[in-house]
Amino acid sequence: MPYQRVAAISSDHQVSIVGDGTPLPPQIQSQEADDDLFAEDAWVEPSIHIDYGTNVKLGKNVFINFNCTIVDTCLVTIGDRTLFAPNISLYSGTHPLDPEVRNGTQGPELGGEIHIEEDCWLGGNVTVLPGVRIGKGSVVGAGSVVTNDVPPYTVVAGNPARKLRDVPRGTNAATTSGALAAMERDKGQP
Ligand SMILES: CC(C)(COP(=O)(O)OP(=O)(O)OC[C@H]1O[C@@H](n2cnc3c(N)ncnc32)[C@H](O)[C@@H]1OP(=O)(O)O)[C@@H](O)C(=O)NCCC(=O)NCCS
Repeated sequence: MPYQRVAAISSDHQVSIVGDGTPLPPQIQSQEADDDLFAEDAWVEPSIHIDYGTNVKLGKNVFINFNCTIVDTCLVTIGDRTLFAPNISLYSGTHPLDPEVRNGTQGPELGGEIHIEEDCWLGGNVTVLPGVRIGKGSVVGAGSVVTNDVPPYTVVAGNPARKLRDVPRGTNAATTSGALAAMERDKGQP
């Protein structure tokens, strides 16, 4: 079936489902042009689990890998170009420590905003606790529990996460990328 015909059918379906007669935008002519439309969108791999969804803001080119959990009792923001490895948990909610105040599901829920600024990379199985801000350009090692703010351009790891080093700046891929180094090492090998 010609592509235009398929578009016409889905347009009819759209009208019958939502009652919105606005015409669809013109057809994009090439795959590249179509890809360009989404170049700056956030990319979220399923599955993802979020309490409300209305309290989460993603920047441009954010990548969230499998099995992310976001408890968005309070606002959670993730800045442009930030990368999440699998199994990341962001917990902006918490409960009173005193069990009589906590009172099962009848007590108050507390929380603090989580802000992960632009150009960060969080390794696998990282947990971020309520009220934490991770500064731009920072790296959080796999398995870390981030309990305090992380200054910009800092590598932290561990439970609780502690500073390992400053993020190197002004380097180039040929000397810092493990993938390129491995290609160089394997050159000429069968
Ligand atoms: C944080 C990370 C980037 C640091 O890399 P690095 O700067 O090369 O660090 P090193 O390997 O030189 O380790 C420095 C020290 O920190 C420790 N360390 C490194 N990563 C750690 C982690 N995730 N948790 C606890 N300690 C860690 C090392 O044991 C080492 O300690 P030592 O000096 O006592 O031996 C890396 O270890 C990491 O965790 N990467 C995440 C990988 C990942 O999650 N990938 C998923 C796909 S995106």
